[in-house]
Amino acid sequence: MRKYIIAGNWKMNKTGAEAIQLVNALVPKVASLKKVDVVICPPFTALSQASEAIKNSNIGLGAQNMYWEDSGAFTGEVSAAMLLNAGCQYVIIGHSERRQFFGETNQTVNKKTQKALAAGLLPIVCVGETLQERQSGVTEKVINVQVVEGLAGINSEEMKKVIIAYEPVWAIGTGVTATPEQAEAVHAFIRGLIEKLYSKNIAAGLRIQYGGSMKAENTEELLNQPDIDGGLIGGASLKADSFLGIIEIANKLSA
Ligand code: 13P
Repeated sequence: MRKYIIAGNWKMNKTGAEAIQLVNALVPKVASLKKVDVVICPPFTALSQASEAIKNSNIGLGAQNMYWEDSGAFTGEVSAAMLLNAGCQYVIIGHSERRQFFGETNQTVNKKTQKALAAGLLPIVCVGETLQERQSGVTEKVINVQVVEGLAGINSEEMKKVIIAYEPVWAIGTGVTATPEQAEAVHAFIRGLIEKLYSKNIAAGLRIQYGGSMKAENTEELLNQPDIDGGLIGGASLKADSFLGIIEIANKLSA
């Protein structure tokens, strides 16, 4: 009942021309795969070109970050309205790399999520524990705080538009994937938390993506878990073949 959503987070990769090239390779192949939502998240500078290239396709467009103010003296930042204007429907918020390298906190995640929703963007809110947190046995505690504080003040209607990405920091870009059981345990925990904070219905409709060294080889076992509803893909989204491999499996499992 929940449609899989496979999103490519390109991070700081690809110029406009490279984006067009990748999109052109994806569009015809994805055209027949209707049972899965496919999203690409290029860097800001390639959004307009990517948007043009996916026109009339079933690929959605997302940005990797945004700021919560409408306009003004915020050098280097980009507003929700600018993202909409560039053709985005989605925006990734609070990716662990932004938390780690650019000082993002649950409070900035909350402000950005609220603004994205108010502006009509669909936020992909990222949560995840570090290796040290996992090893100290505080994974659920950390995820709990990230979810509760990150989504503070978001009402039930808005929550229906939120996507959560569970990305264990130790699995990102490391080649180490969480086992399906490890990932499922946290996804089920997040869904349970949303049920407590909102309702059974909203929890049942929430899409929770897994992220962290996901590739075609481990997609089936991850997506077969009851609470994993897709993937947020880094490295494997940078090449058409590897990204398509994941999308095709998701589509097949939805049949
Ligand atoms: P990798 O797929 O490269 O591990 O990155 C995952 C990620 O951070 C997606 O947002």
